[in-house]
Formats: sequence, structure tokens, C-alpha cells
Amino acid sequence: MRVDVLTIFPEMFRGPLDVSIVGRARAEGHLELHVHDLREHARDRHRLTDDYPFGGGSGMVMKPEPFFQAFDALAPGWPGRPWVVLLSPQGERLTQRKAVELSGRPFLCLLCGRYEGIDERVREGLVDEEISIGDYVLTGGELPAMVLIDAVARLLPGVLGSPASVAEESFTGGLLEYPQYTRPRVFRGMAVPDVLLSGDHGAVRRWRRKQSLCRTALRRPDLLLLAPLDAEDRRLLRELKDEGVFGDGVPAVEQVLAAR
Ligand SMILES: C[S@@+](CC[C@H](N)C(=O)[O-])C[C@H]1O[C@@H](n2cnc3c(N)ncnc32)[C@H](O)[C@@H]1O
Repeated sequence: MRVDVLTIFPEMFRGPLDVSIVGRARAEGHLELHVHDLREHARDRHRLTDDYPFGGGSGMVMKPEPFFQAFDALAPGWPGRPWVVLLSPQGERLTQRKAVELSGRPFLCLLCGRYEGIDERVREGLVDEEISIGDYVLTGGELPAMVLIDAVARLLPGVLGSPASVAEESFTGGLLEYPQYTRPRVFRGMAVPDVLLSGDHGAVRRWRRKQSLCRTALRRPDLLLLAPLDAEDRRLLRELKDEGVFGDGVPAVEQVLAAR
């Protein structure tokens, strides 16, 4: 996959995307990253990328010309037309499902806003999709772009050693992941659950599934309602309920148990 980024702070991308799994994905050619300095595409003498908002109001707005000029200058060297994403708090929320969808696109171009945002004509003329990383406002689109790149890169074929780790982790199957442990068996008086040391793969699988259901019910009941659950899952939820894990009750659990 190729990802191009347009930003006025290209230096922010040095470091986080050079190391660990994303760094290796780049070194091995799974991910080709090109970060472009938008200022280089600002034609005026001072390389200005922002201006005052029409209609008044506080703050500055990113000018449209540098974005369009960057596209005009870069497009001849591009392998095709990218899917253009504007990072914006007004966009669709980035979820694991959205990351999977984006990981199937061969070429993304990410636009990073700053100040009060970007002139609306950039949205109209260049952008295919707006994506938000959450309901809060950051100072710029660079961190959201890096979050998106990280979430997508690890889904590219060949990037993670074991595809099973993606299959089992939080959100992929609609539930949060079960708790994980490593050595030592006992740490500061806290022991690893016996079942994980039992060597009984069926019991481990069942325990993990039960823990996933428990965590999701308590922490993200909204996900439990949407998750594809089978009869065994409902049995495990009933067990948890009978064990008193849900205290006075979790409405989502009652709803799942009432459903056939
Ligand atoms: C201060 S924000 C502008 C917010 C804008 N005035 C609004 O109210 O929608 C500046 C830039 O940061 C980025 N940004 C801020 N929060 C974001 C979020 N939650 N998700 C994605 N991008 C975000 C966007 O690129 C945005 O153009």
C-alpha cells in the first residue's frame, strides 16, 4: 500500500512511523510512505498556507491553493488516483472495521488540517472521505493521520507475524480481547489463572471466550449488542450472571439472554 500525506509539519512524522511494526512494514515494502510539505506548494513569497476567515471570527483557515497545487504537482508521479482522506473531527469515526476497509485500498492520500480547519473547497474538490479519530478536538490532523496509518499498516498482508493475532484481538470478532499473561507465573502475589497453565486447549479457549464476553459486557455493552453471538456464548453469559459478575444486572446482557 502507498500512503501520501500532505501536512505543514512533515517533521512530526519522523520517529513514530520509523520504528517497530510500522517501521518494519516500510522497510520490507508493505507500506510506502511519502510525507509532503504543503508549504512547498504555497506559491506566495512567504509560503503562507493560512488566511483570515471570510465573515470574521477567531483563528485562521488553511488556504485551498496549496492543497490543489500539491495535487497538480504530485499527480503526474502518482501510480493512480489516491483515495483522499481528510482528517477531521467532523468525519466518520475511525473503527477497526473502517481500518480494515482502508487497508484494502492500494493508495491513500491523507490531508492534515491545522488552525480552525481547511477551506471548504478542499473538501468539495479533493476529498473522498473525512475521518475522525474520536470526539475531541486536536490541534492538527498529523497525530490522527499517524493513528490511521498505524491501524491500517498492521492489517496489511505480511506485516504481522501471525494473522491469528488480528483475528483474536479486540473489535475484530465484535468483542474485546481476553486478559493476557506472560511469565512469571506469580508476580508480587498475583498468580496467573490456573487454566492457562493446564495445557487443556479446549478449557483455555472457553475461558478466554468467557473473559471476552465478561469484559465486553462490563466495559462496552454497546459492542455486546452488535456482536455475533452463538448458543455457547449465551451459556457463558448466563454462567457469568449466575456467578454474580454483573451485580445488579447489565441491560445489554439481559437483552442478549432474552434474544433467541
Ligand atoms: C483545531 S482542529 C479544527 C476543528 C474545527 N474548527 C471544527 O470545529 O471542526 C484542526 C485540525 O485538526 C485535525 N483534527 C482535530 N481533531 C481531530 C479529530 N478528532 N480527528 C481527526 N482530525 C482532527 C483536523 O485536520 C482539523 O482540521
